[in-house]
Amino acid sequence: MTIALITGANRGIGLEMAKQLVAAGTKVFATCRLPEQASALNDLATQNSSLVTVIQLDVINDMSVHAAAQAVAAETDHIDVLINNAGVNFRDNFEEFNSDEFLLSLNANGVGAMRVVRQFIDLLRKADSAKVVNISSQLGSITAQRPNFGSYAYNSSKAVMNMITRHLSFDLEKDGIITISMHPGWVQTDMGGPNAAVTPPNSAAGILKVTAGLTAEDNGKFYIYNGEIHPW
Ligand SMILES: NC(=O)c1ccc[n+]([C@@H]2O[C@H](COP(=O)([O-])OP(=O)(O)OC[C@H]3O[C@@H](n4cnc5c(N)ncnc54)[C@H](OP(=O)(O)O)[C@@H]3O)[C@@H](O)[C@H]2O)c1
Repeated sequence: MTIALITGANRGIGLEMAKQLVAAGTKVFATCRLPEQASALNDLATQNSSLVTVIQLDVINDMSVHAAAQAVAAETDHIDVLINNAGVNFRDNFEEFNSDEFLLSLNANGVGAMRVVRQFIDLLRKADSAKVVNISSQLGSITAQRPNFGSYAYNSSKAVMNMITRHLSFDLEKDGIITISMHPGWVQTDMGGPNAAVTPPNSAAGILKVTAGLTAEDNGKFYIYNGEIHPW
């Protein structure tokens, strides 16, 4: 049985990925900041008690991530797929620069993924060929930047995540771990808004299809949810 862990699994793309993984028979450690408020996720867990374990995990809190890793290690000896999905978007522009929001964005969207991989590395190494999927964004692409395309804090934070993907792809290759960045599309979630182009089910299905098909040759690449390669 495939074993997956998702951050930010209580709503949006993360929740949809959890639903689809469970429907496919995958065991999911569905993590979120506030499990007691995660009603949709708790419903999924209640309906699929053998496949879903809800775990508290705040990606900006070292102790929370450490405790989550210990809780997961008590239930499984490995993780096949880690999806770093949690993210924030404050939508600043030049005039609205706010250093606290900028730093929080870097922490949650960039350092958060690194924090999670470091704490879960033992479980990833024990899988046959684990996959780390960092849910990034086209907005984190330096090549794709243009005027009025996203925000300083968010775009910078996803560029940080992309650099972390590249470094992890080098450092973890010897362990057989494949690390990629993934642009999920512009998706109809709280973050993407109602006018976004892609539904959460279509985005999640695409991400999971690409993830399932990853091989060692894909290590260190930047994918779009539809399977195309995104420029860095
Ligand atoms: N929607 C889009 O168009 C789009 C486009 C490109 C990339 N993305 C990326 O896709 C990912 C999912 O986005 P989404 O659209 O599903 O957004 P969303 O609906 O706003 O959900 C964001 C998720 O991240 C969680 N989160 C935020 N800060 C966290 C923290 N410190 N620790 C743990 N969880 C935290 C949220 O939990 P709470 O409920 O506790 O806040 C929520 O579960 C994000 O990384 C986002 O940047 C989205």
